[in-house]
Amino acid sequence: MQVLIIGSGIAGLSAAIRSAELGCHVILASPYVSERAQSVMAAGGINAVLDPSREGDSIELHIEDTMKGGCFIEDEDTVRGLCTAAPDIVRWLDSIGVMFSRDPSGNIAQRAFGGQSRDRTAYAGASTGRQIVTALIQKCREYEIVGKIERRIGLNFHSAVIHGGRCCGAVFTETVSGRIVTLPADAVIMAAGGMNRLFGKTTGSSLCDGYAAGRLFTQGVRLRNLEMIQYHPTSIETPNKRMLISEAARGEGGRLYYEEGGRRVYFMEDEFGERGNLMPRDVVSRCMYRCPSQVYLDISFLGEKLIHERLQEVYDVCMDYLGLDVTKEAIPVAPSVHFFMGGIKTDDDHMTDIDGLYAAGECASKYHGANRLGGNSLLAAVYSGRKAAEACSERGEAKGGPDADAVTAEAEAGLAAAKSSDKGTAADSMLMKLSAIMNSRLGIARDEKGLRAGLAEAEELAAEAVRYDEGLSVYENLRIKHMLILSKAMLMSALVREESRGAHYRQDCPETKDEFCSCSVAEYKDGAISISFGDDARSGVKK
Ligand code: FUM
Repeated sequence: MQVLIIGSGIAGLSAAIRSAELGCHVILASPYVSERAQSVMAAGGINAVLDPSREGDSIELHIEDTMKGGCFIEDEDTVRGLCTAAPDIVRWLDSIGVMFSRDPSGNIAQRAFGGQSRDRTAYAGASTGRQIVTALIQKCREYEIVGKIERRIGLNFHSAVIHGGRCCGAVFTETVSGRIVTLPADAVIMAAGGMNRLFGKTTGSSLCDGYAAGRLFTQGVRLRNLEMIQYHPTSIETPNKRMLISEAARGEGGRLYYEEGGRRVYFMEDEFGERGNLMPRDVVSRCMYRCPSQVYLDISFLGEKLIHERLQEVYDVCMDYLGLDVTKEAIPVAPSVHFFMGGIKTDDDHMTDIDGLYAAGECASKYHGANRLGGNSLLAAVYSGRKAAEACSERGEAKGGPDADAVTAEAEAGLAAAKSSDKGTAADSMLMKLSAIMNSRLGIARDEKGLRAGLAEAEELAAEAVRYDEGLSVYENLRIKHMLILSKAMLMSALVREESRGAHYRQDCPETKDEFCSCSVAEYKDGAISISFGDDARSGVKK
C-alpha cells in the first residue's frame, strides 16, 4: 500500500519510518528538506519516565501532570497512551543514535521542566530537536536506499483529493515550476506543523503558516481548541524572529525577576515558592504580563561550567543576538507565541473527519489540552506519527479513486481562473497586517471587545485579499485566503469560550467554568464557521 506523508519534521519522519517498517511504500512530500523543519528548533527535551525508582516518579504522575497542565480538557485514556509509550520511544531514539546527555552513571540524564512534579525531561544538550531530526533522517535514508521511502522535496500542499468521502491523495504546487502535481495514495498523513506565520515573529518557523489546517477545514475537516495558543515565557527579540531561551535554563535553576526601587523582585518564587520559576508556561507568561517593568532571567550564578555543558545554546543565542554573556549578566526576556495546542481534530487513530486522511504532530490537536508541558511536544510528534502510520497500515490498500491526471487537470483549471503575476510584496504586506491583528487580539490576555474587533479586522483584510487577487501569485492567493479563514476560526473560538483556562485568559471572564471543561470544535460549512463544545474525538468518523 502507498502512504503519502506531507511534512518531513519529526512527526512526518516518524510516520515514514514506521510505515516503511510495516511494509508500506511511502512518499514523503514537503516544501523543504527535514533540516529546515521547525522540529530542529526544539531545544529543551522529551519527557518520559525512564526510571520509576528515581524520585518516586511513575507513568501515573506523568499522566497527572499532563492532564493538570492541560487544565483537564483532554481525554485521560488518550494522554495515558502517550505517557505509557514515552519510555520505549526515548529508548528507541537512543538506539537509533540520538546523542542524549548522560548522568555520571551513563544513564540518560533527565532534568526539571515546567509544570512537572518530577525531573523527567531527557535532553541532548540544548538541541534535542536537532539531534532527533538528525537520527530520524539517518534511519529514513536506510529505507530510501531500498526504495521503501521516496522523498519529494519542493512540493507545497495545495489540497486533499477526496473521492466518495475518502481521501485518496493530495495535490501540490511545485516550488520551482509552479506546476500542479497530484500524488495518489491509499492513505495520507498530514504532518505540516503549527501556525506560526499567522503571528509573524514567534519562536517557531515562519514556514509553518497554518495553510494546511485552513485548507482542510474548508474541505470538511473539523479543527479543535484553536483558542489555545501557547506563549513561551522566555524569548528574546531579534530582527526577524523571537529566539527561544529554553525552559531548560529555568530547569537548571535560572531565576526570573524584575527590578523595583533598586532591588530584585523574584515574583514567581514570591508567589509560588521554590518551584515557582517552573510553573506551567501559561501561568508564568501571565505573571510576566502583569509585571510593572522589564523581566530578566538570571542564570549567571549557575557558573560557566554548567552553562557551557548544559545550556550552550542559550549562551550562543544571547552572545550572537544580544552580545550578552549569560555567565555574567541576566537576560532581558519576554513571552512569545511558541506552540499551538489547537489544530486538526482526530480520533484516537489520528484519523481526521475524512476517511483515510490522518494528522500528526503539531498540526493535530490531541494531547495538550489548554496548555502543553515543555518536553511533551517532541514526545507527541514521535508518538502520533508512529500511531498514524500503524493505523494506515492496518487499513490496507484502498480500492478505486479518481484518475490522477483528471485531478491534476481539475486543480489546474481552478487555479487558471485566478492566474496572475507573482508579486511577493503584496503577500508580505497582507501577512504583516494579519499578524498585527492576531498579536493584538489573541495575545496573552483577551476580551470580547478585542476579539470582535479582530473578527471585523480579519473580514476587512479578507475583502482586501479579494481586491489584491490580481497582484498575487495563484498559490499566495490561495494561501492567504485559507490563513484568513483559519484566523477567523481562532478568533471565534476565543470569543465563544467565555471563561479563562490554561493559555486562554479572558480579562472579562477571569474564572474557570465547569460548563467549558471540554474542547472547542470549529466547523466550516457552506462558507460559514461555527464553534461548539464537547469533543467526540474518541469515536471519530470511522471508515
Ligand atoms: O523551552 C523549551 O526548551 C521548549 C521546549 C518545548 O516547547 O517542549
